Amino acid sequence: MDSNNELIQKINEKYISMGLEPEAFYKGLLYSKPINYWDYIEVESLLSLQKPRTDYPDEMVFIMYHQVTELLLNMMTHEMHQVCNNENLTADYFIEKLGRMNRYIQMLANSFDVMRLGMDPNQYNEFRFSLTPASGFQCASFRFAEIYSTDIENLLDTRVKGNLPANYDTAFLFENIYWQAAGKDHKTEKKSYLLNLFEEKYLDKFIAMANEYKTKNIWQKYVAMPEKDKNNPALIQALKDLDIEFNIKWPIVHLRAAEQYLDNGSKVIKATGGSDWKKYLHPMYQKRVFFPGLWSKEELDNWAKDYD
Ligand code: HEM
Repeated sequence: MDSNNELIQKINEKYISMGLEPEAFYKGLLYSKPINYWDYIEVESLLSLQKPRTDYPDEMVFIMYHQVTELLLNMMTHEMHQVCNNENLTADYFIEKLGRMNRYIQMLANSFDVMRLGMDPNQYNEFRFSLTPASGFQCASFRFAEIYSTDIENLLDTRVKGNLPANYDTAFLFENIYWQAAGKDHKTEKKSYLLNLFEEKYLDKFIAMANEYKTKNIWQKYVAMPEKDKNNPALIQALKDLDIEFNIKWPIVHLRAAEQYLDNGSKVIKATGGSDWKKYLHPMYQKRVFFPGLWSKEELDNWAKDYD
């Protein structure tokens, strides 16, 4: 810890080196009010961001849990960004950051009962009509996490995966990415309103980001590690945990919540986004795997089957 004199000396040097008068900053310190919790955390702004479209009280649960999800996904991508852009990545740092990502996605997977059990089904099945045609499908934060995590080739529709033409570009990959199945008619290639709107808003950004992270996504960072780090069991486990949490556990709990509200046993209700959701949302069908090189052929063939 610096003594007061040393601190003052350093502050003087800092502002003088910038061509500024240190005295003005000391006066600023003298007059400014100490920070408080509510301003620092922006509590009032945060709590003014819930704007229900109906008077059903449970619409607030729906909005706030989606907002919680956005925050946690952004905590994840904040860690992902640091790993991908670290040019001196060590196994210890990588494991530490993966641990953080895994805890965030675990929080989401473990708390999804807030959605599955925490809303009155009658209220949900009324207020949801005021959201049509919006859908959680349009949540870009999930797609950013995917692009940070792996090569887009690993996110392709299973009908295209492994059958790529000799030459292709990133736009071609996004045209064949797994999530097209939520809104594109495979035979006619016609896209739904939900999908068109999503692509209009985000596709250029996804393509630019995928190009930027082609050589430095989490999988590529792992591949570039020295052999001894690549064989580090803790690193391998942390990567596999991310695959399990993000690509199996969260999709399963999400699907179970969708079933709770949209499938009463005798009738499957159309979702606000309009996908063939019962099939589309199942991780066994999507087979989204960030790190296929870490799993055996048998494990990949049986992806998510044990979690059904
Ligand atoms: C009762 C609550 C929920 C229900 C009934 C539900 C239902 C659905 C359905 C049916 C879809 C398929 C697309 C469509 O046709 O709309 C979907 C997609 C999606 N939802 Fe939800 N959802 C719920 C809560 C949430 C929450 C809290 C989030 C968090 C942001 C979320 C994020 C997503 C994402 C990311 C997708 C796309 C999944 C993928 O592409 O694999 N959902 N949801």
